[in-house]
Amino acid sequence: MAMPLVLRSVKEMRAYSRSAKQSGSRIGFVPTMGALHRGHLSLVEAAMKECETVVVSIYVNPTQFGRGEDFDRYPRNLEGDLNLLADYRVGAVFAPLDSEMYPEGFDTWVQVGRIAQPWEGTCRPGHFRGVATVVLKLFAIVEPDLAYFGEKDYQQLLVVRQMVRDLNLPVEIRACPTVREPDGLAMSSRNQYLSPDERRDALVLFQSQQLAQELVDRGEVDAAKITQAMREHILRVPYAKIDYVALVEPETLQEVTTVTRPVRAILAVRLGGTRLIDNMEIKPKTS
Ligand code: PAF
Repeated sequence: MAMPLVLRSVKEMRAYSRSAKQSGSRIGFVPTMGALHRGHLSLVEAAMKECETVVVSIYVNPTQFGRGEDFDRYPRNLEGDLNLLADYRVGAVFAPLDSEMYPEGFDTWVQVGRIAQPWEGTCRPGHFRGVATVVLKLFAIVEPDLAYFGEKDYQQLLVVRQMVRDLNLPVEIRACPTVREPDGLAMSSRNQYLSPDERRDALVLFQSQQLAQELVDRGEVDAAKITQAMREHILRVPYAKIDYVALVEPETLQEVTTVTRPVRAILAVRLGGTRLIDNMEIKPKTS
């Protein structure tokens, strides 16, 4: 297929969307920060199934990175991303400059609420304020009918859903399952940072979640015991640093004490200079 059209300005993007809508297309939107992998491409595929026009944004949003985080070294490869997207039915790629998204004098922010406070919100203060603000701006510019987010960033998905509900945004949010490498590592642009040893050791994230499910399958319901086993498994990698490991209620992200309903295992672990997150549904025995 052909290389997608690249739009750099808000004006061009809006004109494109409006003309697509006028010709009766539904717009499916996949917001990304580039460094595209199969996880992103699965979102594009989901959008292609439901929408006549698919728009992908590629923008490394500075306001969602804290001081000392990886904004400067975040992988950027627009050319490579466009080549990958050429195999898909993508109408346009919105790749704005910072000056388009945050012009001189920019001073309005989305104030995120309770769902953004624990876990990633505590470890990365200001992160979800930056995410919610840029996503709201992208929705206002692209005017999508549907927008596609990966479950890999589970708390982000809940923050965006809450914002869409609270602010009556005319867009439907679709959640798509995490895509994993054949050995189970969740796909992430940050996996590129891992050294070969760290890449091997990164498997403890997936394995610890599988362990949680195995313990539950064997009849364990005590969340503290399960998370302790998960921590011990992760810390078999001596240099791993755990930011959090928890079993939470899937809608509120509040920690559970027992696993008697489906819960979400969520975790953030640092391996050397790379911080990885993952999550998985853990289901109690049905019988
Ligand atoms: O998930 C991401 O890649 C980013 O947080 C998003 C949603 C594109 C906002 O910058």
